[in-house]
Amino acid sequence: MIVLGIETSCDETAAAVFDGKKVLSDIVSSQIDIHNKYGGIVPELAARRHLEMVLPVVHEALQVAGVSISGIEGVAVTQGPGLIGALLVGVSFAKALAYVKKIPMVGVNHIEGHITAVLLEEEVTFPYLGLIVSGGHTSLYIVNGIGSYRHLGSTRDDAAGEALDKAGKLLGLGYPAGAIIDRLAKEADPKAIKFPRAQIHDLPYDFSFSGLKTFLVNLVHKEGKGFAEKNLNQIAAGYLEAVVDMLVDKTVKAARENMLNTIVMAGGVAANSRLRQKMKEAGGEFGIKVLYPSIPLCTDNAAMIAHLGYSYLEKGKRSGLDMNGIPDWPVLEGV
Ligand code: KG4
Ligand code: ZN
Repeated sequence: MIVLGIETSCDETAAAVFDGKKVLSDIVSSQIDIHNKYGGIVPELAARRHLEMVLPVVHEALQVAGVSISGIEGVAVTQGPGLIGALLVGVSFAKALAYVKKIPMVGVNHIEGHITAVLLEEEVTFPYLGLIVSGGHTSLYIVNGIGSYRHLGSTRDDAAGEALDKAGKLLGLGYPAGAIIDRLAKEADPKAIKFPRAQIHDLPYDFSFSGLKTFLVNLVHKEGKGFAEKNLNQIAAGYLEAVVDMLVDKTVKAARENMLNTIVMAGGVAANSRLRQKMKEAGGEFGIKVLYPSIPLCTDNAAMIAHLGYSYLEKGKRSGLDMNGIPDWPVLEGV
């Protein structure tokens, strides 16, 4: 079966073709240039841009794959979570295609796409611990198989990527700032400026990043205007180190306490070089393997949606033409 995957949940319009073995094409059109000047995503603008881009992006995905529209035998689309206006563009497109071509369609969860994307590149044995860490989400799941998850914990406030993006905005780095902070941090000692690590004792696998951001705001105000400019690398390194340490501590603890010997990281922040390095080191101390997809499969893409959708379509799962977007679909369920 040849499946077309469509992803429009946030600020990337993406389409991919997957034949069950190989990703034949994986096209992403980013909207960063549109949202950059606002310091964050403007939902209305995102939806409008998806509407303009969805057809050209699908065309390109078909062309690169060398498949005509009639060769598509199934459609998978991100149904949620995400921005409702943005989601509806992909959902409506998928419905129209399924209706006209009389092919099966399935709506899938974006987070589930991220957490299973690694299966496209690595031989992974279940169960594994999945850390989804992006601009909108920071959660830990036990992944027993595709469709079988146990939620262990999530952030109580900002997502890790959001914490990096908010720091970037404060420091005038532009949006999104995660990759810029990654680069700046490489030039400085992460211990030069010490940032706090949140302690949450009652829920052992929950995260919190808002205190870190407040600490940075207070620091910049206290030290005056020139401070941030002069110490940009040190601030980036110290701030990123705190984010990374909080992620690594909880994730390795969750893996050990649940006797899981594989950690899989996914989502945009899983592209971070310091996080990759420190998670590998910390996992390695306990014989825990740490895996993550290549960077294009970490950030938002449609290959992960086509791959996940393929698996569900193969099992006979179908969405009807009454499918709607589910903007608030934060927790994967089912064991
Ligand atoms: O998964 P993603 O593309 O979109 C969703 O949020 O679903 O993740 C985007 C997030 C942004 O917050 C961005 O700043 C962050 O991932 N990011 C990074 C890096 N590349 C992207 N954060 C840290 N280091 C990076 N290299
Ligand atoms: Zn994402």
